Amino acid sequence: MKPNFIVRVSQLASSRSYKDLVSIVESLVSLEKYSLLGLISGERLLVAGLREGALNAYAFDGSELTRLNREPINGVLQAPLGASRVILLRDVEKGREQHALFEVKVDEPLAEEMLEGLKPQRIMSGYDAGDRIVVTGSTMEYAALYSIEDGEARLVTRLPGFAFITDYREGLAVGIMAGEAGKFDLFLVDVDSGELRRKSGKEGSFISAVFSPGGDIIAAMESSRLELLKVDPSTLEADEAELPHGDLKEYQPLGLNWIGYTQDGELVVVARKHGRSRVFVDGKAIESLAGIHGRVVKWKGGYVASYTSLKTPPSVVKLPEGEVLIGSSGAGVVDESISESRFEWVESFDGSKVPTFILKSGKAGEPGPTVVLVHGGPFSEDSDSWDTFAASLAAAGFHVVMPNYRGSTGYGEEWRLKIVGDPCGGDLEDVVSAARYAVESGLASRLYIMGYSYGGYMTMCALTKKPDVFQAGVAGASVVDWEEMYGLSDAAFRNFIELLFAGRRELWRDRSPINFVRNIKVPLAIIHPQNDSRTPLKPVLRFMSKALELGKTFEAHIIPDAGHAINTVRDGIKILLPALVFLAEAEERAESE
Ligand code: 4NP
Repeated sequence: MKPNFIVRVSQLASSRSYKDLVSIVESLVSLEKYSLLGLISGERLLVAGLREGALNAYAFDGSELTRLNREPINGVLQAPLGASRVILLRDVEKGREQHALFEVKVDEPLAEEMLEGLKPQRIMSGYDAGDRIVVTGSTMEYAALYSIEDGEARLVTRLPGFAFITDYREGLAVGIMAGEAGKFDLFLVDVDSGELRRKSGKEGSFISAVFSPGGDIIAAMESSRLELLKVDPSTLEADEAELPHGDLKEYQPLGLNWIGYTQDGELVVVARKHGRSRVFVDGKAIESLAGIHGRVVKWKGGYVASYTSLKTPPSVVKLPEGEVLIGSSGAGVVDESISESRFEWVESFDGSKVPTFILKSGKAGEPGPTVVLVHGGPFSEDSDSWDTFAASLAAAGFHVVMPNYRGSTGYGEEWRLKIVGDPCGGDLEDVVSAARYAVESGLASRLYIMGYSYGGYMTMCALTKKPDVFQAGVAGASVVDWEEMYGLSDAAFRNFIELLFAGRRELWRDRSPINFVRNIKVPLAIIHPQNDSRTPLKPVLRFMSKALELGKTFEAHIIPDAGHAINTVRDGIKILLPALVFLAEAEERAESE
């Protein structure tokens, strides 16, 4: 079956039909997306796939994908190479991210069994060591690290909040956790004694850490560049890690996508700079593709990796050949709608340069209608990687501008930390600067704004604090009231909010869009998952009530039984379709005026 979503080039916005929008959304949301998770027994790859309408785990033997789980899942724990079982996470509360753990043996697919012991909660990370499972989890009361052995969960140590295990070896769990002033520290937990030790990076944040075959910790730290440190697990003393080859250093990477060892003891580093990544084995570059690579596994004498680009949905490729091993068919449709993608440094109000990705739509004129699409996080980034929202907007005839506003990752620690203590401040100025640049450079005729999560918050900030810049906005899973949200958040997200504001609660009022509804001048579409436990719906309902009283034009789409993470085709369509219909109508109205 060939999806027919391509709008004829001669068609203008005014002739965009609902039918076209439905087929754009349906075909792009349903594209299969894969990521490589590891190697399991029998020399098979373990792969997560958005396939068959939802997220599932698969074993891949070189020719066939065998689904491991009966019911859709929400995540998979890390495990050593060659494991014979897989621990799955499944949300058991309709999107509230209350995860239960399930075990499936790789040779007995479709027969997962729930593990008793830990009460369902937000599982942030975990590692299956076979004899025990270690996880970090968060409830409304507190966050902690647990060890699950013989059907019982033991609280090993409480944690301040946001904490992720990145590796485990012989009773020691290593990971990263939120530290002071927006930084992330390295932690080491002795799972038997419960002792928690942590180490801050002087000028940077720890991103990940793994045990080397020799028992040291190799930790990745992002400062003004990516640094690799060799850390002694008994003293936590660190030295620069020496690699046999110099290519990685020469590349001068700014960020890390993945670090780990192969079964042959080679250290693989997937390093990132300016929205693209390269793969290094023991410091030596291996040929890779233009775009973003994720986890790498050594398999059948070569390397395989997760890979994606703005035009390629997440897939699994062979390196250095670049051949797609597991990927979606039909992604070629994207070539028709994205006529050009480029990277620009856009000057902001204070002279800072905002790294920005720009997609030109093959379906729009120049200048043409343009959407500033704002990423979430805020500690994340737009890059040369697949974005269903961006691809759909381009297919629907909008140019797309994606600013990596201050707070974004991938451009050094200084840029990331500039948002700390100032959300809806300099970050919003950066977003507005990118919008103005789109007009001044001749790309944009009219400007719209759209985002999800922190990007939804930026949309709300823009419409309430910069009401003259955009013609309309789409706020997905947005934040509107920090005070109310804090009270509704679990321990992990309370910790995150504290980190983001650097404890400056006095700013909450001014940085909450709900207090500035009166300023809104243009139509707003609100799209929100009903059971979102990261950016709860409740404050948004109060926001709507205010907008109603004040006579503002808005529409609202609450996605029933859905949570913050979008990992079914159904939720993807229900979120994206109203956004495209709203923007197409707004553009049609503007055109006819
Ligand atoms: P995200 O969601 O943009 O998807 O990462 C967020 C959830 C919570 C907060 C920010 C973003 N927060 O500040 O609490």
